[in-house]
Amino acid sequence: MDTILLGTDPKDLEEAAKFIQDGEVVGIPTETVYGLAADALNPGAVKKIFQAKGRPADNPLIVHISAWEQIRPLVTKIPKLAEKLAEKFWPGPLTIILPKSDLVPEITSGGLDTVGIRMPSHPVARALITCSNRPLAAPSANISGYPSTTSAQHVMEDMHGKIAAVIDGGICSVGVESTVIMLESETRVRILRPGFITAEMLKTVADEVIIDPAITHDLQEGQQARSPGMKYKHYSPHAKVFLVEGNFEAFSNFVNQQNQEDTWAVTFSQEECDKLNCHSLSYGVSDAEQAQQIFGVLRHLDELHAKTVYVRSPKTDGVGLAVYNRLIRAAGFEVIHL
Ligand code: TXA
Ligand code: MG
Repeated sequence: MDTILLGTDPKDLEEAAKFIQDGEVVGIPTETVYGLAADALNPGAVKKIFQAKGRPADNPLIVHISAWEQIRPLVTKIPKLAEKLAEKFWPGPLTIILPKSDLVPEITSGGLDTVGIRMPSHPVARALITCSNRPLAAPSANISGYPSTTSAQHVMEDMHGKIAAVIDGGICSVGVESTVIMLESETRVRILRPGFITAEMLKTVADEVIIDPAITHDLQEGQQARSPGMKYKHYSPHAKVFLVEGNFEAFSNFVNQQNQEDTWAVTFSQEECDKLNCHSLSYGVSDAEQAQQIFGVLRHLDELHAKTVYVRSPKTDGVGLAVYNRLIRAAGFEVIHL
């Protein structure tokens, strides 16, 4: 299959909508990361997403909508708390897990009786949902296990020849995937995956916000994953990644001793890079910059044929928790404390 690159003109969006209606898969920009979109209610189309990614069948897909009315046929219950959260954070990078209706095929929900719903804010994603008149199932547009994609070029690298088209909507503004939450009661929310919508932000709506332990720690043997995605390898480039905690001086001493041709360091600024003896890249000083750049940096390290990578650990408050979660998973939970 030849994968065509589309722009964002109305004509291009109509072409993309036609592919969706015909049961094909299209790479689409969202404000978080690029998604691999197909008609969420068409099992044959959803199967193509799983095949293109090489995704385990029990890992459910998020269903994307563009207007509030579209949620009703997809779920059996909308708690008041879900409504309040949606009112505050939609459209935007928040996915809410709700009990699914029979309309949502089992393949889309990975066999679960719940479904994650999100209303993206990206105008192109919204226009495609509206234009195709379908809710869109869309996981991140990367080969399963590899870093997510934040540009159309990244999607082409992973998906060329496997899907019908990619819409180039530029670089994603958030850069990490949506915050995924489940509602434990009318007042309590549990974060299953951290994102741009932080615990502090959720606390302005819910009385209690719990950060699931699996966000920062590997699942112990026999421990049940509340989200299937927690079980699998994620975000890992080919290089072996280590997350390094400590101040810059300790980091600098450590990486300067590891000076090998294929060893790279990832720091917070070009200024820090300039002080190191080994190859280095920087990935942003503020938590929002770190989020926007992290997947691009992890992908770039593979282009540079890095074998070993030491990444300065971000702060874990605010959006930093999302960046930390992606990195600790990319590192297979291997952290070096200096
Ligand atoms: O920002 C995003 O959420 C992006 C863009 C494209 O919208 N999508 C995305 O999808 O990140 P994906 O499939 O790469 O990640 C979805 C995560 C997975 O870890 C999955 O296990 C979890 O959400 N998930 C989805 N539905 C769930 C459910 N019903 N119960 C528990 N976890 C669920
Ligand atoms: Mg993903």
